[in-house]
Amino acid sequence: MHVADNTFLVTGAASGLGSAVARRLIDKGAKVVLCDLSEDVEGLSTSLGGSALACRGDITSAAQMTAIFERAAVFAGEAGLAGVVHCAGVVSVGKLLDRDGNPTNLDAYAKTIDINLVGTFNVMRLAAAAMAGRAPGEEGERGVIINTASIAAFDGQVGQCAYSASKAGVVGMSLPAARELSRYGIRVMAIAPGVFETPMMAQIPSEAAQALAASIPFPKRLGRADEFALLAEQIITNPMLNGEVIRLDGGIRMQ
Ligand SMILES: NC(=O)c1ccc[n+]([C@@H]2O[C@H](COP(=O)([O-])OP(=O)(O)OC[C@H]3O[C@@H](n4cnc5c(N)ncnc54)[C@H](O)[C@@H]3O)[C@@H](O)[C@H]2O)c1
Repeated sequence: MHVADNTFLVTGAASGLGSAVARRLIDKGAKVVLCDLSEDVEGLSTSLGGSALACRGDITSAAQMTAIFERAAVFAGEAGLAGVVHCAGVVSVGKLLDRDGNPTNLDAYAKTIDINLVGTFNVMRLAAAAMAGRAPGEEGERGVIINTASIAAFDGQVGQCAYSASKAGVVGMSLPAARELSRYGIRVMAIAPGVFETPMMAQIPSEAAQALAASIPFPKRLGRADEFALLAEQIITNPMLNGEVIRLDGGIRMQ
């Protein structure tokens, strides 16, 4: 799969990892549909020029995402959508019990699962439908879906039950989705980032960020969003990558 002259849809494109993916793909000659809940996609789209199309929408909404994929199909033209890089998501922290031993509220857990897991499934099913009817390229390839998990799927910390479960679900869907979509020539991959320097991570205090950076074997710094984007590009272009989850974390294992 080539990046240049193909059209990709990137969710979470207004910020952090998604924004870096959108910029890199456009730099390499692609057209990109920028999907995000935030109105910041409009400004980003203007700055990126005619190769970008801003589409505001909620990844958990079947109707909104169906409409966005319809706009993406028109934007992509006859060649159709070649890939989706799904980066939209939220981080959440919440223990099972509060300080007095009372059980936590169920709504916060359900909301994280809804956005990170159900939202991923929603995007994936529409992406598959959009790409299944494309004319096949080299070796019958029609498209690629890249989801975003987290190392929390494997090394969840205290307070991460909801976040870890949501990302473990993303990990769990990779292989069955790749197996199902193989008959259409559509690959499915996931990236499990470690700790990356994005607005999401800016929410944690700087001392905590420094401690996290120090615990990364090498390089001893937070990941840069363009390093995530580089891996997304490599997954798009390497046809043997399929049904797998790649940790991108400098070797960190969370305690
Ligand atoms: N930054 C990290 O260290 C890190 C580590 C592991 C995993 N991740 C995962 O990477 C992904 C991107 O994270 P980031 O650091 O770029 O975060 P970010 O907060 O900078 O960007 C996330 C984007 O997703 C959008 N979004 C959130 N909910 C949405 C919804 N319902 N519909 C549409 N858009 C929505 C937000 O508006 C935002 O623009 C997330 O799934 C996150 O869990 C990040």
